[in-house]
Amino acid sequence: MSSHNSFDQAAEAAAYLSARLTIRPAIAVVLGSGLGGFAAELGQPVTIPYSEIPHFPQSTVPGHHGQLVAGTLKGVPLIVMQGRVHGYEGYSPEQVVFPVRVLRCLGIRSLVLTNAAGGIRESLKQGQLVLLSDHINFTGKNPVAGANDERFGPRFFDMSEAYSKTLREIAQRAAQSEGYVLEEGVYLGLLGPSFETPAEIRAFRTMGADLVGMSTVMETIAARHMGIEVLGISCVTNMAAGIQAEPLSHEEVMETGRRVESTIARLLKRVIPAMAARLDEPAK
Ligand code: HPA
Repeated sequence: MSSHNSFDQAAEAAAYLSARLTIRPAIAVVLGSGLGGFAAELGQPVTIPYSEIPHFPQSTVPGHHGQLVAGTLKGVPLIVMQGRVHGYEGYSPEQVVFPVRVLRCLGIRSLVLTNAAGGIRESLKQGQLVLLSDHINFTGKNPVAGANDERFGPRFFDMSEAYSKTLREIAQRAAQSEGYVLEEGVYLGLLGPSFETPAEIRAFRTMGADLVGMSTVMETIAARHMGIEVLGISCVTNMAAGIQAEPLSHEEVMETGRRVESTIARLLKRVIPAMAARLDEPAK
C-alpha cells in the first residue's frame, strides 16, 4: 500500500462499511489476543469479516478473529474490531494502522485499544488489567512517516497525552463500581514476534516501562495524528521474561486472555456508556 492513496483506500473501505451499517458510532474498541469475547455483548450485531472490507489487512494470528462487529451496548452504537494485524506478521506500519484510519473516516472520535502484555513491573499480577498512562514506541518505525496526508492530520503533532486522562478517569470510576482499582502503567511496544530476553526486560524496566507488548503503539500514534482520543487497556497475560520462572508461550497469553475476558467485558460495559455520555455533552 503506497502512502499517496491510503486516504482514498480508507475512504473506500469506510464507504463500504457505511453502506452495510445502519448505525453511526463515535466509539470503537479493538480487542487484542484472547480478548475477543466482548463482541458477544453487542445488541443487533452486524458482523463483517475483514476479508470482505476493501483493502483491509488480514490477521494471521491464532486467537485473532479478524472481523468487525457493529451493534449497540446499552443503547450506545459501537464498533468492535475482533482482532488486529501486527508488524511481526510482515505488515507495514501503514497497513497496521489502516483499520484505525478507516474508523476515523467512519466518524470514530474515541478509541479503546486492548492488548495482551507481559508485566515488567514486579508488583503486577498475571491476569490483572492495567490502564496505559503512556507508551514507549520501541519498534523503530512510525506509521505516519513518509509523505503526510493533511486529510488525516498535521505533519507534526503532540503526543504528550497519548492516552486520554479523562478516559482513564472514566475507566477508574468504572473499575471502582466493579469493586477494584486499576493500576496504570507505561507500555513499551516492540515489533516481535520473538518474546524478549531477560536482559532486554531489565533494560526496558530501567527505561521506565511497566508492560511490554507487540501492538497498540502504532494505532495510538495514528489515532492521535487524526485527533482521536485513546483509552489503552492491557491484560497482563504473563510476567515478562526473566521474571516468571516458566518459558513464555502464545498458549499462556491466550489462556490468561480467556480467563480475563469476562472482567474486561464487565469493565467495558460500564466504560462505553460513560464515554458516550461525555461525547454527547456540549464541547467546553
Ligand atoms: N512480551 C511481548 N508481548 C506480549 C507478552 C510479552 O511478554 N505477553 C503478551 N504479549
